[in-house]
Amino acid sequence: MADHYTRAFAAADYVRSMHKTEPRLAVILGSGLGNFATQVEGATTIDYSDIPGWPVSTVEGHDGKLVLGTIGGVTVAVMQGRVHAYEGYSMNEVTFPMRVLGLLGCTALIVTNAAGGINKSYGEGTLVAISDHINLTGTNAALGRNEARFGIKEGAGQRFFDMTAAYSPKLRGLAHAEAERQKIPLPEGVYLAVLGPSYETPAEIRAFRVLGADLVGMSTVHEVIVARHMGIEVLGISLVTNMAAGVLDQPINHLEVMETGRRVEAQFTSLVKALVPQVAAATA
Ligand code: HPA
Repeated sequence: MADHYTRAFAAADYVRSMHKTEPRLAVILGSGLGNFATQVEGATTIDYSDIPGWPVSTVEGHDGKLVLGTIGGVTVAVMQGRVHAYEGYSMNEVTFPMRVLGLLGCTALIVTNAAGGINKSYGEGTLVAISDHINLTGTNAALGRNEARFGIKEGAGQRFFDMTAAYSPKLRGLAHAEAERQKIPLPEGVYLAVLGPSYETPAEIRAFRVLGADLVGMSTVHEVIVARHMGIEVLGISLVTNMAAGVLDQPINHLEVMETGRRVEAQFTSLVKALVPQVAAATA
């Protein structure tokens, strides 16, 4: 079987054959946020299942389409849905799409997710700019032999790579300024990733709060690790779809998670849409 790089390269070739213009910026849409993809102009929509090697999600609320086109004059590749490690996918499978988007020419990533709110100052529906992460999934996306060819920038693609500014302070600054202009509250928070698929216990959430986490979720960190390996700059935005286990005196259910996404869709869309050209300009 071809190696990981060769398979990602072949998938990128397939995407290029379907849509000629190179994307500059990648957007990954989390649970309940998939409708953002309707903002793409001149869209070419490709089913994940048509892209060689691209994993397909089994989770409801994850649409499974790659949408290429422009937003605000910027060429974008928007992922409507992603696969998760808890579905049984390997790290190489979970991060395959990010590798392909990097090879296609994306030098910036806006990654979004649905998350549980650990920080009690958040509420359901709060958008949060991710300032950093804690990876408690028990694995690492860059596991395995280092593939230096994935580095798309000078100095990228190293075996050991820096995660100090994994969530770009510069891009976060743009997000805060834009949120303020639009009068959308946008606190910052540390995202803690677990493997899932069970939601956490209240004792775990109390422990995570002590560790310094504000948000908990089951995605994002793997994509961000791989993005940083490649030299891609990252802006991360979480939507607090529910307060984490034990914060409120009620159970968590996936339907609620999806519903919150729809409720704040307009705010989310307006914020991210305005940020696309700004993020592209700042990472040119
Ligand atoms: N925990 C983990 N992942 C999540 C949650 C949660 O409470 N909400 C949305 N994704």
